Amino acid sequence: MNIIERNKYNEMKTIQLKTALPGPKSQEMLKRRAAAAPAGLAKSTEVAVADAKGAVITDVDGNTLLDFAGAIGVMNIGHCAPNVVKAIQEQAEKYIHTCALVTTFEPMVELCETLNRITPGSFPKKTLLANSGSEAVENAVNIARYATKRRGVICFEGGYHGRTLLTLSLTSKHGLFKKGFGPFAGDLYRLQAPNVYRKPDPMTEAEYVDFCIRKLREALISQVDPSDLAAILIEPVQGEGGFIPMPKAFLQEIRNICTETGAVMIADEIQCGFGRTGKLFACEHYDIAPDIITTAKSLGAGMPISATVGRADIMDAVHLGGVGGTYGGSPVTCVAALEVIREMTKPAFLAHATRVGDIMTQRMNVWKEKYPWVGDVRGLGPMRLVEFVKDRSTREPDPDITLKIIKDAVAHGVVLIRAGLFSNGIRLLPPLVITEEQLHEGLDVLEASIAKGMNS
Ligand SMILES: Cc1ncc(COP(=O)(O)O)c(C=O)c1O
Repeated sequence: MNIIERNKYNEMKTIQLKTALPGPKSQEMLKRRAAAAPAGLAKSTEVAVADAKGAVITDVDGNTLLDFAGAIGVMNIGHCAPNVVKAIQEQAEKYIHTCALVTTFEPMVELCETLNRITPGSFPKKTLLANSGSEAVENAVNIARYATKRRGVICFEGGYHGRTLLTLSLTSKHGLFKKGFGPFAGDLYRLQAPNVYRKPDPMTEAEYVDFCIRKLREALISQVDPSDLAAILIEPVQGEGGFIPMPKAFLQEIRNICTETGAVMIADEIQCGFGRTGKLFACEHYDIAPDIITTAKSLGAGMPISATVGRADIMDAVHLGGVGGTYGGSPVTCVAALEVIREMTKPAFLAHATRVGDIMTQRMNVWKEKYPWVGDVRGLGPMRLVEFVKDRSTREPDPDITLKIIKDAVAHGVVLIRAGLFSNGIRLLPPLVITEEQLHEGLDVLEASIAKGMNS
């Protein structure tokens, strides 16, 4: 970007670019990262951070950028939410870690009680705390298998569940995540999840969803017997797979199958939970209560914490000593999560999140009309994505234009990441505390990059 272009953007309120990106200090840090960390550790931008507050990131060269990635959906509450910072500081002065496998402490007990209360389902629940989303899913599947004394797990194409051996086995998108690893865990059955944008042309949406439901039912004959089905694992809105909200009828059918067969319905809300869709949990849009819900990311406002919350009888099935870890339920992470929940359960928080989603939807729908390379815009509430194609009629994915647009928008001060099975989507995960002005500012920058298309 030249200096005239840069000054044009500097008239805006939040984004202030003093250098081309990455600036000299950022470049220096990027060099050190490349030398010190493994090559396989990807990064979607060259932003080197000095400070982050709310929806704003300041880099080490003094440039301020708008954060539309939110640490991949971790920062729904905003960077350094004051109450979260205060709670962490106060807890760190009392005790940092005494381990839930050795002692008992208030923040962990209170967080388990709170999660049991606020997650969908009016039945008695128990919560197991861990450190990452992968661990939460791994715990959920292990517990479901233990409780049912069955092995089979149904998962879905496009699903992302983590990078431990079991969760990597459950994850889709082979080339990016799984190539070269393995052998993978067994007794997993991957079925098609409905992606309405990519349905076969002759089918109506309703016919397509019916077809996917029929295939799901058939899998109980062709792939796994119901008597050996431990769990069905699904993201109510696929995250990594491309912000694909599951049709209501499909999720409800999964609920029905689990109820009929005694399998455990596991909803992975690690990306779509904690306010991301405008409700505390995405399942609330679907009027269903899964047997187990996994959550992480925005639960902890940046602290590494995850939770597996489920029916008490299922969660209690495992023998004494069969679950847990050194850091699960660490007090500093629990107090952060409690502050997140306190803030997000105020009606004003989710009302603003919904407004953020409405603004995004209005603006992005226009992009679909204006730019032929925009194939689809979709999502649920403020969890939204724009998908790029080479040709609208064939819907051939265009990952190249996607990368170009991301690079251009980042160069103009908006932090962005990709998503989608074909790496041809830009997902928007700004902190939900973003102001309307900041949101419009970031969307203006992104739209300018989209308008340039392949010339960006
Ligand atoms: C839906 C979902 N499940 C599980 C995970 C894994 O979480 P983590 O990276 O914390 O292990 C992710 C991470 O992106 C996710 O989006």
